Amino acid sequence: MEPDQFFKNNKEWVSEQLALDANYFENLSKGQAPEYLYIGCSDSRVPPETMMGIKPGEVFVHRNIANLVLNTDLSAMSIINFAVEHLKVNHIIVCGHYYCGGVQAAMQSSDMGILNPWLRNIRDVYRLHKTELDQIDNEEEQYKRLIELNVQEQCVNVLKTTSVQKAYNDRKIKVHGWVFDLQSGKLIDLRIDFKAILKEIMEIYRIG
Ligand code: CO
Repeated sequence: MEPDQFFKNNKEWVSEQLALDANYFENLSKGQAPEYLYIGCSDSRVPPETMMGIKPGEVFVHRNIANLVLNTDLSAMSIINFAVEHLKVNHIIVCGHYYCGGVQAAMQSSDMGILNPWLRNIRDVYRLHKTELDQIDNEEEQYKRLIELNVQEQCVNVLKTTSVQKAYNDRKIKVHGWVFDLQSGKLIDLRIDFKAILKEIMEIYRIG
C-alpha cells in the first residue's frame, strides 16, 4: 500500500466520525481518562484497538518486541508510572500472542546483534520454568506455554514496580495476563492467580 492511501483512509475516517458526532474531535482534544493500560507485542498482526474493539481514549498503550516489562527500560517504566499515578488506570493488561517471532527468536541459538540482551529476558523466563517446559514434547505446544509464562513473568515485573504496589494498596489495581491466538483470532484470559503470586513475590519485592 502506498502511503498516500493512509491519508485517503484518514479523510474518510474523519468524515465518518463527524457524521456520527460533530463534536467528536473537539471532545477528544480535551483530555484522556483511560481505565486501562495495555502492554503488548509490536507485532503488526496484533493491533489492540482492532482485536479489543476499543475507541480512541479508552486504552493507554505500550508495545515492544515480545511484550517485555524490564526495570531498566525507561520507556516502559515511564509509561507504567504515568498511567498508574497520573491517569489513575485501574487495570493493567499484559498481552502476549501465540506465534510470537520475538519469543521464537529468543529460543534459537543465533546471534541477533542488538536484540541479544533484549531477547535474553525470554531465556530467563525459560530458565525459571524449565521443569514444566521440558516436560512438553510437542515443540509448538512448548512455545505456546513459554509465551503464556512470559506473559505471567511480565505481569510479575509490573507488580514489582513501586507505583503499582502503591496503587494496589490504595485502590486494588488489577493486573491481567492475556494471550491473543493468531490462529483463531480469540483473546484468551490466562486467569493468572495473582493473589498467590503476589503473596510469594512480596516476600522479596515489597517496597514500602
Ligand atoms: Co510478538
